[in-house]
Amino acid sequence: MKTENRGNFSSKIGVILATVGTAVGLGNVWRFPYIVGENGGGAFLVIYILSLLLLGIPGVIAEFIVGRHSHANAVDSFKKLAPKTKWHWIGYSGVLAGFLIMGYYAVVVGWTLEYLTQAILGNLSGMSVEQYGQVFDQFAGHPYWPLVWMVIVMLISTFVVARGVSGGIEKISNVLMPVFFLIILVMVANSFFLPAAGQGMKYLFLPNFSELEPVAILIAIGQTFFSLSLGMGCLITYSSYFKKDVSLAKTATQVVSIDAMVAILSAMIIFPAVFSFGMQPTEGPSLVFKVLPNVFQQMPLGTLWSILFYALLFIAAITSLISLLEVVTAYIYENTSLTRRKAAFIVTGMVSVLGVFASMSFGLLQDVTLFGKTFFDLLDFVTASILLPVGGFFISIFVGWFLDKRIIATELRIKHPKAHLFIKGYIYMLRFFVPACIFAVFLYSLLG
Ligand code: TRP
Repeated sequence: MKTENRGNFSSKIGVILATVGTAVGLGNVWRFPYIVGENGGGAFLVIYILSLLLLGIPGVIAEFIVGRHSHANAVDSFKKLAPKTKWHWIGYSGVLAGFLIMGYYAVVVGWTLEYLTQAILGNLSGMSVEQYGQVFDQFAGHPYWPLVWMVIVMLISTFVVARGVSGGIEKISNVLMPVFFLIILVMVANSFFLPAAGQGMKYLFLPNFSELEPVAILIAIGQTFFSLSLGMGCLITYSSYFKKDVSLAKTATQVVSIDAMVAILSAMIIFPAVFSFGMQPTEGPSLVFKVLPNVFQQMPLGTLWSILFYALLFIAAITSLISLLEVVTAYIYENTSLTRRKAAFIVTGMVSVLGVFASMSFGLLQDVTLFGKTFFDLLDFVTASILLPVGGFFISIFVGWFLDKRIIATELRIKHPKAHLFIKGYIYMLRFFVPACIFAVFLYSLLG
């Protein structure tokens, strides 16, 4: 196993921006707004925030402890902390999950680049509602265009991952994430001037618990995992590059807060826009591709807003794709004699094969299903509903029950007279509360 020269994030701001880069992704800008739309608005938001606080923060800290203490990739970290046990199978499941998520995530990142290009070319205006729908269906079902874009986004990610931790991932996050925040703030400011700004904000912030269904709680927990990149060793891998002076509890709290803020800001962009132009936010997954172009074209400076929005979506998505590639690449790189570049290329080649099938789920293979799901949906289901919760469950049990408490205390370094109480409380959460909640979600998604 190669252990020297693994690299580190060189600055504290680099740590935050890179970790926010993995967390903030399609999950925030694309998925969050439509699930809030489907699950009744404000009340769902309250549940989601509770889930971030009670499961998200403890979960992120648990992965950080494992990663920073072992300084190793998702598999070898468990081998180091629990030698001669089977715990490292959590890592294998994580590497597999990373690979499978990339298979469909890269396809959607490709779509965002297509829409960004079309927005820049000025082709996203002048159509009717139905035509926008058709344009998306035709593009997504096209035999090779989506594949070309998918390969391009994978090659961009490969290029970044090949350059290493501080020279690649940290550098690109330091450039792209500030641009991301600038765009999102400009777009939110614009939202306040839309005719239905008030209606949009009310829908998002005024909880109406009578419309909340119990299922929403489970959906909120699932979203917590996906959005925070939890449950597959992604945060283990990233935190293995943290230096000793990074405070894990503080970083976790900051990353979770920023991730939540971005999700809320994205919804603040989308709801006022959708309501202002007579559309509904309940459109589901195609909301940002089928509905928004039509909303933008009705705004003054529409082309500008659509360029900014798809740039926002693309930046969010590519930094997350890079993190997924890093998890699998770091494992291969550190266990073979391959260079980082070669390891990343090999993963990209394999992901591209998966991506071909995922993409064809919208075209040629539209009607080919397994358990009633297309290949694309199957990849999403197996990862988000099975591998991530199972991974999160076992990581929580591992840190709560198996890991030496002194390791937890050393890594958390909390300087407070009541620090031991905090750590005790934290361990209880990991032992009982977190696994119980995950178990509930898991049962639901398998039975429901
Ligand atoms: N969190 C990212 C998003 O919100 C997606 C993602 C990146 C992810 N890495 C992950 C999800 C690891 C689960 C596990 O889009």
